[in-house]
Amino acid sequence: MKFRGILLVGAALASGAAAACNRTFLVDATDKYVAAQAEGKPATLTAITADNLNYTESDKTVDITTGVLAQPMKIDHNRSIHDTTLCATFTELIVTDPAKPYVIATRMVFTNDKASLIETIATKPGDWAFNATGYLHWNSLENWDPIPADKRDTRAVIQAAGDAYFNRFDNASYAVPFGTPCARLEGGAYTDPRGAGGNTCSLGLPSTIVVTNRRYVVDEEMGAVSIFLGFPGLDRSVPQEPMPDSHLFRVEGGKIRYIHTVSAKALERSPVVRFWMGTTPVYLFGGPKHYQAIFASRDLTYNGIMLQIGFPKLWRMTREEIQRFANDKSGHKETPLPGTEHVPPQQRYWATKYHVLYDFLSRKHHIKPIVDEFARQFSRDVVEKFPLGQWTTLSIDELTRRDFTRCAITTLFGPKILELNPDFLDAFWYFDSYASVLVYGFPRWMYPQPFRASDRFLDRIEKYVEAGLKDFDWNGPDVDAQWEPHFGTRITRELTKWLTDAGFQRKSVAGALGTLVFGQNSNTIPVVSWMLMELNKDPQLLSAVRAEVADAFVTDPLTGARTLDTQKVAALPLLQSLFTEILRLRVSMVIMRVADRPMTINGVDVPRGALVHAYSRIAQTDEATWGSPEHPADQFWPERHIKYVEERDPETGTLRKRREFAMAASPACFFPFGGGVPMCPGRHFAKNEIFTMVAILVDRFEMEFVRWTNPDGSPSDRPAESDQRFSGIGSLPPTVT
Ligand code: HEM
Repeated sequence: MKFRGILLVGAALASGAAAACNRTFLVDATDKYVAAQAEGKPATLTAITADNLNYTESDKTVDITTGVLAQPMKIDHNRSIHDTTLCATFTELIVTDPAKPYVIATRMVFTNDKASLIETIATKPGDWAFNATGYLHWNSLENWDPIPADKRDTRAVIQAAGDAYFNRFDNASYAVPFGTPCARLEGGAYTDPRGAGGNTCSLGLPSTIVVTNRRYVVDEEMGAVSIFLGFPGLDRSVPQEPMPDSHLFRVEGGKIRYIHTVSAKALERSPVVRFWMGTTPVYLFGGPKHYQAIFASRDLTYNGIMLQIGFPKLWRMTREEIQRFANDKSGHKETPLPGTEHVPPQQRYWATKYHVLYDFLSRKHHIKPIVDEFARQFSRDVVEKFPLGQWTTLSIDELTRRDFTRCAITTLFGPKILELNPDFLDAFWYFDSYASVLVYGFPRWMYPQPFRASDRFLDRIEKYVEAGLKDFDWNGPDVDAQWEPHFGTRITRELTKWLTDAGFQRKSVAGALGTLVFGQNSNTIPVVSWMLMELNKDPQLLSAVRAEVADAFVTDPLTGARTLDTQKVAALPLLQSLFTEILRLRVSMVIMRVADRPMTINGVDVPRGALVHAYSRIAQTDEATWGSPEHPADQFWPERHIKYVEERDPETGTLRKRREFAMAASPACFFPFGGGVPMCPGRHFAKNEIFTMVAILVDRFEMEFVRWTNPDGSPSDRPAESDQRFSGIGSLPPTVT
């Protein structure tokens, strides 16, 4: 087996010498800092740093040779401001590299031509509202040109504008000189996403927060003030404790035009964080107590997310179609909610959606035949391709994204979808690469690519739907079949029939089916890739799994044919532990709900219409929850969820140890499939599908790791990493960029 890895990218080294504390000296210093960060070589700053330099990250002193500054990165944007009075600088860096995106704020203070303090806040996926691509995009729309000499404000005016903003935080009547337009950029969220041009900086400001320890950099030429400070209140578990925070203000004619914030660690430390997406408040909850409350709540709905994101962006419904769902208040259950009994069955859209997705994807008697069909197709079309008794070098990436995906799609949707569209897999993976931007990103007029990728993908599904509606005998014996060759499984047929009969446009029918293709493959394929990688890297693990899996095969005494018992394999403890560990580390989902009415979650007031988020990565990598002294939470450890039980062999009477699967922490802190009523309907099928692939492969083949490679097949000296572009929307595939 052969793997894909990633290429290490470097950048040019800066050179030059320091001079006195004037603008030229400070500009040279920030240039050197940016170059040192690009190269990941802090040593190149030695000429401008004092012997007793204090280097901090998020307010903690860190060894400069092992911190963020020692990581090379391709910097997409940098902006610095220079304060010749305080002899200090501020730099904003944006790195959109999907493998390791960052937004970094750095303040340097110089004494006698040498930096005595470099303080950095480096935000990355997991920090609240983090989105480096968004940060870059909104930044690029702003004008930060130097202010003409005759229009410059004094440093006192510029600093006062920034100070007024924070003074307002504990005094709602404090006058802040907001300009028009004025926009705030937090993480990747922008307060004026539609470019409406008003003062959106004043939206949603706190009124009881006293910020601490303000540290300034003021640049009159750029009309800018950077304020580093302590921001208490973000972390409600320690409400008095200030969090590291940076705000950069652009001030023109005494008025604030832009505000850029960088706040690190808030998510990881905070059980509850509130922020704003446009004008909507978002409450991000952390901790098992909160997760349980969110998943149990009836007032927090997933339907609101479908109306805002799922239907328009993925199902690609028209407004009128979305409105039909919005008008239906009768609930998802078979019996309408009290007071809605008059709603005709054909207008009970939520209930039908729930019934079609959940019955046909989750019920055992429906999924067992699908999984058996998958195992049959996988053995026939994938495994038989490789001759026994000889070595073949394969790319796991190729194998999973081509052969496995083809088999998974053919099982769920039938062979027609690929016969009619020979380039279907390309269209799907191309769409997949844009899915996060489509879901969270900008409107079509601003960023058309994701919509084009979606159009290309859905056009192919439409063709398949059209052919099915024409050729399939809707009154014939196959109408209730568990599998038939046009639509494949019942879920695909039922979804098509329901939406077509209800008069939804073809594109929406295709959108619903496309979301199913996406839910199925975008999540399972990366998981199976990671499982195979781990098995190939560790021969001991591979042979332990192989031994365990052997028990799940049944050999026909007459023909000698081996078939997999798909139910038995799903209960194997080591395989379950390996699967759970991959889901824990490689699935990054923001679970989203909308508050249907004003409510309180464990004492936190949440207004009607607010968004409630829970971030699986935070829950699933929490050290206190999952870590052990030998195996920290961020480390892959295939036996993390195994318990050894001693038992006596009934035949020999000797004591032996048996493995049992036992989740290493409370299931409340593990939600790769979401939770509550809208929990992923495909979760059982996903597990069965993944276990089937792994079991058949390890049973049939010897495997050996060959090397990591770059996308072009050339060798790489680095292993694959999680592709952070998918952060927040599902399984993180290995990066190939
Ligand atoms: C490792 C694999 C998978 C993961 C991690 C995963 C994860 C998720 C999550 C987190 C949700 C949202 C649940 C919530 O908000 O509480 C979801 C929804 C969904 N998933 Fe999965 N999923 C996987 C596999 C699958 C498979 C194999 C299918 C289909 C065959 C599927 C179909 C769906 C569908 C249709 C929805 C939306 C349900 C709705 O609109 O109500 N998923 N999935």
